[in-house]
Amino acid sequence: MKPDDELCLCFHVTMRKVQNFCRIEKPRRASQLSECGGAGTGCGWCRPFLQRIFENQQQTGESEIPDSEAYHRDRAAYLEERKKRGDKTD
Ligand code: FES
Repeated sequence: MKPDDELCLCFHVTMRKVQNFCRIEKPRRASQLSECGGAGTGCGWCRPFLQRIFENQQQTGESEIPDSEAYHRDRAAYLEERKKRGDKTD
């Protein structure tokens, strides 16, 4: 994923915003990333990736996220699965 690709598709929060938030604000828990433009507070798709970014930044200062195409495709499958289960999909 490139820095200007959206990580949180619900709230249009880019990878760069999340990384800068981690670098500047130094959150102590992954859940604090929600303070970065509401990241992770919509459908929930990006939460594992936010967690991963948080953990990687804590350890190495880097993050491993799939390329943008795979990220969008897999989210569509995630939303479809939630829909089948009857979960709310805002
Ligand atoms: S993609 Fe981030 S909450 Fe939906």
